[in-house]
Amino acid sequence: MVQLPDFRATISRTRCPRMQLGRGMGIGNRDMPLRLRLIALIALVLLISLACGSALVGWHAAGSVRTELRAALDVGAKTIGNGIDELARSGDRARELRRLVATFNGNRHVRAILLDAREQQLAVSSLFVPTQRVPGWFRDLIGGEPGALRLAVPAGNDGIAAIVLQADPVNEIGEVWGESRDAVLVLAGFALLSALLICVVIGRALRPLETLSAAFQQIGKGDYYGSVPERGPPELARLANGFNLMAQRLAAVAAQNHRLNQRLLTLQSEERADLARDLHDEVGPLLFAVDMTAATIEHLAGSGRATDIPPQVRLIHDAVGRMQRHVRAILGRLRPIRAIGVVAAVDRLAAFWRSRRPDIEFIVAVAVEEDRIGEDLKETIYRIVQEGVSNAIRHGKPAQVEVVVRHDDADRIRIEVTDDGIGMAEEGMVVRGPAQLGLMGMRERVMAMAGSLSIQHGRNGTGLALVARVPCGDVLQSPDMDVPE
Ligand SMILES: Nc1ncnc2c1ncn2[C@@H]1O[C@H](COP(=O)(O)OP(=O)(O)OP(=O)(O)O)[C@@H](O)[C@H]1O
Ligand SMILES: [Mg+2]
Repeated sequence: MVQLPDFRATISRTRCPRMQLGRGMGIGNRDMPLRLRLIALIALVLLISLACGSALVGWHAAGSVRTELRAALDVGAKTIGNGIDELARSGDRARELRRLVATFNGNRHVRAILLDAREQQLAVSSLFVPTQRVPGWFRDLIGGEPGALRLAVPAGNDGIAAIVLQADPVNEIGEVWGESRDAVLVLAGFALLSALLICVVIGRALRPLETLSAAFQQIGKGDYYGSVPERGPPELARLANGFNLMAQRLAAVAAQNHRLNQRLLTLQSEERADLARDLHDEVGPLLFAVDMTAATIEHLAGSGRATDIPPQVRLIHDAVGRMQRHVRAILGRLRPIRAIGVVAAVDRLAAFWRSRRPDIEFIVAVAVEEDRIGEDLKETIYRIVQEGVSNAIRHGKPAQVEVVVRHDDADRIRIEVTDDGIGMAEEGMVVRGPAQLGLMGMRERVMAMAGSLSIQHGRNGTGLALVARVPCGDVLQSPDMDVPE
């Protein structure tokens, strides 16, 4: 058997560029939007499937080429064998052998070659001319094993020694090229269609997320009044619902803060106006009096009436003493708790109202251990009493207002402001609404201290009882800092 050159495919020599999957396509890029990332991932999977499919098609094609060539060689060998057996009955052996070789003309896979004893080619059959042009890389990839068979011819006087059958894969490769190309084209078409469909589906599925993300950005900018449609898949609909609830809560809290701030500003300006009035009405005349007295002393000294000076000096002392008391009172109003403590501050508040509303009886019982409670709690107690008493007088038309502040049990302080006025309708006892800033502010303060606030009917069902309970545990005590007054 003649050993022909080895046409085996050298796939190992065909270098596959090393690609870092995913990263090569920028999928790991953090700035890449989720939608693009998903699409890129799916495209990558489709490409890998396409590559695997193509490799499978190629592998099958190579196998079928080898099988086909072996079968063609076997059939050719049988034909030649039969022809050689018939030679004994033929008159012209050389003509008969040339005819035998010529029967292989147009064969698709096998070429027959007639050789003499010196291996000279006496006749060669012509192979079927391939109609399909095959790219070189595909030919290298498929390869095929174009083996050969040597069949010896019995010796005769014509010098012919053998017939060689040589397999040639060119036609078979052309055939599988056509089939493989069609298969890969179908696969690619399918992958492209899938990619397009996936793009559309992902785009639609992620649209609610994009809306949600834009809405979150609005929230970040302080706009709490937007909402997102609650539709799409259940998970996203629930997410949108949660977002809307959150935005509503934030909007409510923002509105409440706004109202409280406005109230604070109003209170501040009222307090400032009050202070200005007091300074003008109380301290202003005293300063004027001191000025006048000083001028009198100067005049007395100039006219040599030294004995009249001491009474004038006493007048100055008196005026300065009164001014000091006024200034202390103003400071006490500015920082009542820190200046005088919660018990004295509540007493002072009661005195203030007693002087203005003598028609109302004020009963005050404040019994707290001031050393055990922090400044914040003292401030809360005072503000609750202040607003409770002010509400009772403004809205209740009471004959009596009672303030009780005491330790409820070991850890709580109970603040109670009760009046016997007209009271409040049942529905009004729920703290809500923009007009109820006093009660709302009270509730905020109490909640901030982890306490509770309730509005009840007063004694015997008349009037109103405001009851707050606030923990006074050590944890809530803020360290007292002595600020010079
Ligand atoms: N002791 C009371 N007796 C009767 N009605 C009361 C009493 N306290 C509160 N109210 C009613 O509850 C409402 C809410 O009180 P709230 O203190 O929140 O607001 P306000 O006193 O009207 O205004 P402000 O914001 O200046 O305090 C009052 O308008 C009043 O109708
Ligand atoms: Mg009020």
